[in-house]
Amino acid sequence: MTTTDAPGKPLLRALSGEAVWPPPMWLMRQAGRYLPEYREIRAQAGGFIKLCTTPEMAAEVTLQPIRRYGMDGAILFSDILMVPWAMGQPLRFAEGEGPQLEPLRDLAAVNALEVGAVRERAAPILETVRRVRAALEAQHPKTALIGFAGSPFTVACYMVEGHGSRDFATTRQMAFSDPALFGKLIRILVEATTEYLLAQAEAGAEALMLFDSWAGLLPPAQFRRWVIEPTATIVRSLKRLHPSIPIIGFPRLAGPLIGEYTLRTGVNTVAMDTSMDPRFAASAVAATVGLQGNLDPLALIAGGDAMEAEARQILAAMRGRPFVFNLGHGIEKVTPPEHVAQLVRIVRAGL
Ligand code: CP3
Repeated sequence: MTTTDAPGKPLLRALSGEAVWPPPMWLMRQAGRYLPEYREIRAQAGGFIKLCTTPEMAAEVTLQPIRRYGMDGAILFSDILMVPWAMGQPLRFAEGEGPQLEPLRDLAAVNALEVGAVRERAAPILETVRRVRAALEAQHPKTALIGFAGSPFTVACYMVEGHGSRDFATTRQMAFSDPALFGKLIRILVEATTEYLLAQAEAGAEALMLFDSWAGLLPPAQFRRWVIEPTATIVRSLKRLHPSIPIIGFPRLAGPLIGEYTLRTGVNTVAMDTSMDPRFAASAVAATVGLQGNLDPLALIAGGDAMEAEARQILAAMRGRPFVFNLGHGIEKVTPPEHVAQLVRIVRAGL
């Protein structure tokens, strides 16, 4: 095992398969509404999309949790739905309702997607990547910049449904009833997502993460077809041009399919959701594959001894292998910022 003080960025070393201890850490949704400094900029921004597409503001909120906590990873401030937005699907974030898209239900709507426009429309997001990378090199040289996108299946869920859902039944129904149409949408998303992530890598992202929040809704054969295969295609294309950039996959609620997902997609690190037993994950993936996760965001709201006990169990299970401490899902907005500081102290002390 190597220590966090060895040369290089600890996060990149762990994501690439090195057992670094104490483990590097960052938290999903670490920039967000639980931070007063985020709420202040969000109120000035004139909307969430405006915030994501104004490099000065997006770079500032990306850096806020780095200044406050010295995290090992800075995740680009943006959203997985900026890919459908960049392909021309109408999107809005209504206050308190979550995202709303014009639901995509037929071939005409799929054919209207402008996959060729993604790079150009995403230009402000790529500018944010360049700014954050420059600021990190100047002020936080040990912190690595993580770029990201949603995985095709999860992004398709929002595009077809038009909004969030507990079960995305319309989308799963389409995948069974009209696999030609759904397959065409997934192929378009594979192309757009690859292009978007390549552009982020060129702009300075040092690691890339694919969020597949709804992967676990699918039965195994559908999981292979709509989660594993498209993700494998994206990873292959990224690796061809950027062989050393570590890729993190997050197949949320994949359960026992986590091993097959990891092996067949070729991701370097797999992010464990809250329900995953870290010891099971460690037995299901190769020893050279990184694991990331998976404290329950609700334990972080609780803080104190309850949180400490949970964090220590995860640390104990992960000691000796490539590991990145994180949550099992995004930070909730009611999380007290001082609990995050307490968690950072616990993880930095190691075990
Ligand atoms: O700090 C970070 O993690 C980076 C930025 C980031 C956001 N969303 C910002 C955001 C990332 C990586 C995401 C990913 C994302 N977005 C996912 C995958 C991870 C997950 O949570 O399962 C999904 C499914 C989305 C889609 C999305 N965006 C939803 C469902 C919502 C509404 C729910 C909510 O929390 O409000 C959003 C909005 C959103 N994305 C916010 C933030 C900070 C809140 C918007 C606000 O400030 O009003």
